[in-house]
Amino acid sequence: MKRDDDSGALEAPVPLVDLQAAHAEVDSEVREGFDRVLSTGAFVLGPEVTAFEQEYAAFSGTQHCIGVSSGTDALELALRAGGIGPGDEVIVPVNTFIATAAAVSRAGATPVFVDCDPEHLLIDPTCIEAKLTARTRAVLPVHLYGQVAPMDAISEIASDRELLVFEDNAQSQGARQGGQISGTFGLAAATSFYPGKNLGAYGDAGAIVTNDDAIASTLRAARNYGSEIKYEHPIVGFNCRLDSLQAVVLRAKLTRLAQWNELRRAAAARYDELLGELDSIRAVSCRPGNDHVYHLFVVRVLDGEERRAEVLSKLHANGIGAGLHYPAPLHLTGAYADPQLPRGSFPVAEAAADCILSLPLFPQISVQQQERVARELRMALLK
Ligand SMILES: Cc1ncc(COP(=O)(O)O)c(C=O)c1O
Repeated sequence: MKRDDDSGALEAPVPLVDLQAAHAEVDSEVREGFDRVLSTGAFVLGPEVTAFEQEYAAFSGTQHCIGVSSGTDALELALRAGGIGPGDEVIVPVNTFIATAAAVSRAGATPVFVDCDPEHLLIDPTCIEAKLTARTRAVLPVHLYGQVAPMDAISEIASDRELLVFEDNAQSQGARQGGQISGTFGLAAATSFYPGKNLGAYGDAGAIVTNDDAIASTLRAARNYGSEIKYEHPIVGFNCRLDSLQAVVLRAKLTRLAQWNELRRAAAARYDELLGELDSIRAVSCRPGNDHVYHLFVVRVLDGEERRAEVLSKLHANGIGAGLHYPAPLHLTGAYADPQLPRGSFPVAEAAADCILSLPLFPQISVQQQERVARELRMALLK
């Protein structure tokens, strides 16, 4: 804790995400729900999972929601259900969390990376054409940081080339583009309910939404040993079901998600005001036509990588939970290192990774906490 010079009071740290603050709002509902599950013993699938799936499908404006054990599993299962497998190539943005590409690899296919747009850091559709081959089967855009990727251009390329579109919607539950909600642009969309997400569980959880009946049915079987009816296994499946206890948490939080997303937007607008005067800080902007849900509030530190590192460590030293999303584009990670893709292959994503910084943002963040973040950032920028 840091001593506030003016008041002499101790200033509490500001975390990147405050999971306790979110829990405090749903505490009694979660405990009641846990009691419901404990009293019935329905720990796997069962009524809580079914109810959550119906409620999340309604929120998403889709026919189906299939709850699974993580966002990564959701992506892998969606790709497999769409027929993606060995020999296929899937277009993936190079600046995303590694799970996007890992899910493609786990499905047996090959992720093919493309660079991002310098303004919004979303996948740049103009880079896709050059990466298409006879093996390209699908595009997997990521709705990064809380806003929808440029779906008009992606859908056009996909329909011209007869490619499938899957969405990675781990970070943008409830976001919209041109009024259309994320997760409804492609054949299927995967989302993550990792605790820090806009809709977060108390452990790992995820889901797929789709309007395709056949895909939904395949997914229901695939998550449950290839079975929709006990001991009938028409396909080889997995054990990656959504836990009933996680469904309880998600049901309680889902009723607040729209309001929490509003609060995130308001907090982002407040940062825009507070940081407006800092010449060497520039927020990653919202793409026109997008309703952003600010899973993350990402800024650029314009004075270079060393300066960013210095600012980050000063923020940490002063109790501000800033983060990096992400420190390296995927071709510069060990898992996807490739001599054909040396540094310089994706200049926009590489430059972004060297200067981005995520500031604390969560629905319950107070004006005082945001003012403190802005103040510490201003101090950290002083040479
Ligand atoms: C963009 C993106 N895709 C996929 C995932 C994977 O989700 P999970 O951690 O639930 O497996 C995450 C989050 O962790 C993510 O941020």
